[in-house]
Amino acid sequence: MTRAIEIGDLSFAHSSADIPALASVNLAGGDGETLALLGPSGAGKTTLLTLLDGRLRGWRGRVAVLGAALSPDRAPPRRDRADTGFIFQEFALVERSSVRRNVLNGRLGRMGTARALFGSPAAHDAAIVRRALEDCGIADLADRRVDTLSGGQRQRVAIARCLAQEPKLILADEPVSNLDPARAADILGLLTEAGRSRGATTVFSSHQPELARRFADRVVGMRNGRVLFDLPADALTEGDEAALYRDDDATVAARLQVVH
Ligand SMILES: Nc1ncnc2c1ncn2[C@@H]1O[C@H](COP(=O)(O)OP(=O)(O)OP(=O)(O)O)[C@@H](O)[C@H]1O
Ligand SMILES: [Mg+2]
Repeated sequence: MTRAIEIGDLSFAHSSADIPALASVNLAGGDGETLALLGPSGAGKTTLLTLLDGRLRGWRGRVAVLGAALSPDRAPPRRDRADTGFIFQEFALVERSSVRRNVLNGRLGRMGTARALFGSPAAHDAAIVRRALEDCGIADLADRRVDTLSGGQRQRVAIARCLAQEPKLILADEPVSNLDPARAADILGLLTEAGRSRGATTVFSSHQPELARRFADRVVGMRNGRVLFDLPADALTEGDEAALYRDDDATVAARLQVVH
């Protein structure tokens, strides 16, 4: 099977950091799979998602996304970028624009420049936007300004914008961290189902192992920039979870230093 994600011996340190954010990471994800990234704060989940989105420079190792090798020195070409959609933890919506306009923004990478800047959307783009709005249950909110919406509604807009882009790879950084538990499950179900029904590969990060188990095919456990385990979701045990979140001597010492 073609691999949507291939990572070999990847290492990376942020410029101002003295410890690496990612160290000796190996990971391969098949087309159409849903992967969850779990791990404590600072494990490297956001850094890894940013890398897969082609926004990180200066890493070492081998990374290929949707069959195209990434370069540590430059951004991927525009035509490749359009195939990857990113859902930000803080939504990154245009607050004073309508829901429909925000979702249409997801099509910008696929529309001609002139039409994107000046024109009204082609029927094809309008139909894709309509389907994304309907799939996310926000068709009735299409004309509302985003700054009048609740957190859960905004999250639906962010997902609809990503789906309108028709990405082959969907990356979502803690997509439900701002929501109550019932709504978090609803929205993660919506996102993973929309990805599967479109044949996309989806990678989401989360702090909630039960959501990862329920909605992902595979769970990747990260800690201190390393992959601790990579398991089918139904094979994840409480022992695995405990190993991921346990306090080791180094973390306890670091916390004590902060307290004193
Ligand atoms: N811009 C940055 N500059 C310097 N160090 C950074 C930067 N962003 C992240 N780091 C460091 O890189 C490491 C990994 O951070 P990252 O944000 O990827 O973790 P995370 O798993 O997403 O954590 P969280 O669950 O809190 O979101 C941490 O040690 C963090 O302090
Ligand atoms: Mg993060």
